[in-house]
Amino acid sequence: MTQSLTILGIESSCDDTAAAVVQLSNGAPSVLSSVVFGQTDLHAAFGGVVPEIAARAHVEKLDISVKEALSKAKMQFSDLDAVAVTAGPGLIGGVVSGVMLAKGICAATGLPLVGVNHLAGHALTPRLTDQTPFPYLMLLVSGGHCQFLLVKDHDDYTRIGGTIDDAPGEAFDKTARILGLPQPGGPSVQNAAERGDAKRFKLPRPLLNQAGCDMSFSGLKTAMIRARDAVIAEKGGLTIQDQADLSAGFQTAVADIITEKSRRALGEYFTLNPKTRSFAVAGGVAANTQIRSQLLALCATLDTVFVAPPLALCTDNAAMIAYAGLERFQAGLQDDMTLSARPRWPLDQTAAPMLGSGKKGAKA
Ligand code: KG4
Ligand code: ZN
Repeated sequence: MTQSLTILGIESSCDDTAAAVVQLSNGAPSVLSSVVFGQTDLHAAFGGVVPEIAARAHVEKLDISVKEALSKAKMQFSDLDAVAVTAGPGLIGGVVSGVMLAKGICAATGLPLVGVNHLAGHALTPRLTDQTPFPYLMLLVSGGHCQFLLVKDHDDYTRIGGTIDDAPGEAFDKTARILGLPQPGGPSVQNAAERGDAKRFKLPRPLLNQAGCDMSFSGLKTAMIRARDAVIAEKGGLTIQDQADLSAGFQTAVADIITEKSRRALGEYFTLNPKTRSFAVAGGVAANTQIRSQLLALCATLDTVFVAPPLALCTDNAAMIAYAGLERFQAGLQDDMTLSARPRWPLDQTAAPMLGSGKKGAKA
């Protein structure tokens, strides 16, 4: 095994422009720097990510983020072993910007180029943070993704379920919007829910009683609109307590769906891999305290290690891309100047394609 490997990672597939330096030293990875420029303010007025605005913002910030990541890591290009870049899936303008920058750096420096699947970045994060051994079960749950993955190797994934419509983060954001709470919706719904009564409104848990690990959140969204409209029709508006009760009911419904489907996904994982028991989460929604504590409790009853990376490595970042690139590079895989940017790129090529596309890009 190589003693030390240092990789620059570049990420620009959605609404975060990011660069990071990750180093593997004596078999242990560490994040030397991780720089993220978010674009929330640029898209705030539009209720979702506008691809054209995102692409322009990436172009403005990409080289700055690389410079900053190198300087924070006290590195120069000559200290690196390779450059890893998100080559998809995502909003194509952003992905192209990152890939072009990475190609430019590699052409100028002679460094090897490694194209990385953004979802592999999320899926391999437990190995960066906790050195979780293969195979493990992963729940990717964010504004654009929602899937259970069996992670068997750095390039061997089986999707055993996922959303058939919206991603839960989209549902949190939409719920915040209809309740008049600020964006991003996840944190504000979570805050409001703390003071709420989750039992006041009867909300559905779609697909909960159906077999398998697939999930659905669009019916819940519609039910939230109906529940809100009924309160407004009765009282002429929403009180802070109404907002809190609706938030608590919604959050509990999402947490219940995710927890029950995780129980089933874990059952499938244990059947296929009786010897290992690790369950990891990633994505912005994995920051939700109720969802985290329900999943932690589930794992405790099933004698399973629960891996929840720190939030900065759960949401979009370039350290995960550098690390996924590091695993590929270590395995002897690299790309050349024909590397292309891909809007869709499922990790599990054999699984049926997922429906639709998230507010924050392709669900893949
Ligand atoms: O992973 P992420 O930063 O970006 C992608 O979607 O790829 O996830 C952002 C999503 C947003 O929809 C946001 O509302 C949600 O994660 N989120 C949360 C929480 N924090 C962020 N959802 C529920 N509870 C939270 N505490
Ligand atoms: Zn992501």
